[in-house]
Amino acid sequence: MAKAIIGIIGGSGVYHLPGLEDIREERVTTPWGEPSDALHFGRIGATEAVFLPRHGRGHVLSPSGINYRANIDALKRAGVTDIVSVSACGSFKEELYPGLFVLIDQFVDRTFARQSSFFGNGCVAHVSMAHPIAPALQARIALAAQAEAIPCLTGGTYVCMEGPQFSSLAESRSYKAAGYDVIGMTAMPEAKLAREAEISYATVAMVTDYDCWHPDHDDVDVASVIKIVNANSGNAARLLARMLHDFPAEHEACPVGSDRALDNAILTAPSA
Ligand code: ADE
Repeated sequence: MAKAIIGIIGGSGVYHLPGLEDIREERVTTPWGEPSDALHFGRIGATEAVFLPRHGRGHVLSPSGINYRANIDALKRAGVTDIVSVSACGSFKEELYPGLFVLIDQFVDRTFARQSSFFGNGCVAHVSMAHPIAPALQARIALAAQAEAIPCLTGGTYVCMEGPQFSSLAESRSYKAAGYDVIGMTAMPEAKLAREAEISYATVAMVTDYDCWHPDHDDVDVASVIKIVNANSGNAARLLARMLHDFPAEHEACPVGSDRALDNAILTAPSA
């Protein structure tokens, strides 16, 4: 089994990883272009980690402007076996309140302006996205949340919109009626690309708002998102630090096959 190296992708308001020791920053390029920022290599306890702020330092990249392929490829080249992706999200359920962490298990992809595959043009592959989240990785995050007494719920469907504008009331109501739990702008195509790269992936979605459907809450805006992210960044840091600290030395085989997703996915003949 491979040595576990954990990639952490930070979302809005999460631009560094508190507790990361022996930090070394490295700017890398990939055949797909530049990642969002330099990779921050380091460790927490005995676990090696690589941190990447998804929007770049100073939050300069919009959700549609992020080079998701370069980000995942850079982490793969760094030897990352597992990615924990942190994102802010809006909620469609009363009980999913601002400040709660939701460990997503399904995605609905409504993005339309992003490069969402490493394949095509000479090499065709179709990986399974039936179970996009690596359950063992997700379970480790849940355990860390429990150990740190951080409010956290396992399970939920995240609809990923293109943005950058927030949803209209009609859209918000229709997502709620469809039964989706939360909404964000960045988990796709990140999760798809991680699967194509055979990296186990899990999303920690921090609820920041009730989007715009809730009659008793203000419509989402940037100020309210940042206020909640800042109020809960300590919890995010403790959650990640505990999860990394307790991580086993070796990557665990993934029961849904995220670490061998290409075994039965490539259609193109090897000689083509
Ligand atoms: N990120 C945080 N809140 C959001 C919302 N309501 N819609 C889309 N992305 C979000």
